[in-house]
Amino acid sequence: MQHQPSLDELFERRQIYPDFEPQERLSRLVGLDDQKSRLAKILGLLVNPNGLERWAAKFHASEARPLLEVVLRRPPLVVLAGDVGSGKTELAETIGDAVARQERLEITLYPLSLATRGQGRVGEMTQLLSAAFEHTVQAASRLKSDGKAKGGVILLVDEADALAQSREAAQMHHEDRAGVNAFIRGIDRLANLRLPAAVIMCTNRLNALDPAVRRRAADIMAFGRPSDIQRRHILSLRLSPLGVSANQIEALVMATGPKQNRPGFTFSDLTQRLMPAIALDAYPNRPVEGGRALQIAQSIEPTPPFRDVARVAGL
Ligand SMILES: Nc1ncnc2c1ncn2[C@@H]1O[C@H](COP(=O)(O)OP(=O)(O)OP(=O)(O)O)[C@@H](O)[C@H]1O
Ligand SMILES: [Mg+2]
Repeated sequence: MQHQPSLDELFERRQIYPDFEPQERLSRLVGLDDQKSRLAKILGLLVNPNGLERWAAKFHASEARPLLEVVLRRPPLVVLAGDVGSGKTELAETIGDAVARQERLEITLYPLSLATRGQGRVGEMTQLLSAAFEHTVQAASRLKSDGKAKGGVILLVDEADALAQSREAAQMHHEDRAGVNAFIRGIDRLANLRLPAAVIMCTNRLNALDPAVRRRAADIMAFGRPSDIQRRHILSLRLSPLGVSANQIEALVMATGPKQNRPGFTFSDLTQRLMPAIALDAYPNRPVEGGRALQIAQSIEPTPPFRDVARVAGL
């Protein structure tokens, strides 16, 4: 007899928006304005399709009906794909706040991480996904109403690399395939029921994204390493107020950028490794100092890029 996971077992940290904490985390993300705005619009329309109708009535009268149909019929899936530490999880966990404020509704996030879960017994990933979609359908059904929904649900399927693996890839394990199928069934179910629910999937393997998943995605957003401008922003925001000069910031921007033999720093290399290292080096007896910060930056190796299996395998 298989054990059906309960709501609390599946989702350890449910999050309700609007809330101050995710709002602040969202505002701290740098260089993701395009992703933020696209994601907020897609999610907003899923909870409030009337918004699009009002827009069409205002600018296009009834001529926009065929266009509206295709926009509103998109499956409720957005894929966030790209390099490690580039803000995928951070954005997925906080965008609900922007949507809740924009639509003046309560939004609930159900976060499911496949990396820490579903790696055990055969069939576990499939079972987890089916249960997660079942809970999402139930929660969203209670919020559905004829016009604007009473609230919205976001199901976050994080670390979904196993699901991104193409079903066509020969090495794909039978269990992974069953997981992909459960995922696709879940998306289709949400779409057919037209529920105020959306699924955000995060993966490092854009190149191996299953074609059936790819086809269903309303949007696939790519995440990369920070550019010079983005690194300058992150560095100067935190170090300029401490007296690090513009020239020293410039040297740090260069030191953390791509080199011939290695890529540049990731966002998380900057915020979770370099910044703490600079602070802890000075602590407790000295102030932060630009020259020393540069030495520290030069001693840190950036996280190696995620090696996409499909590319490695030449698929
Ligand atoms: N665009 C960004 N602006 C500012 N900080 C960022 C940005 N992206 C990531 N960070 C920092 O890096 C940390 C890690 O980001 P996050 O967990 O979202 O990465 P990820 O893309 O999900 O990576 P992984 O693929 O390894 O799961 C965040 O907590 C944040 O501090
Ligand atoms: Mg992540």
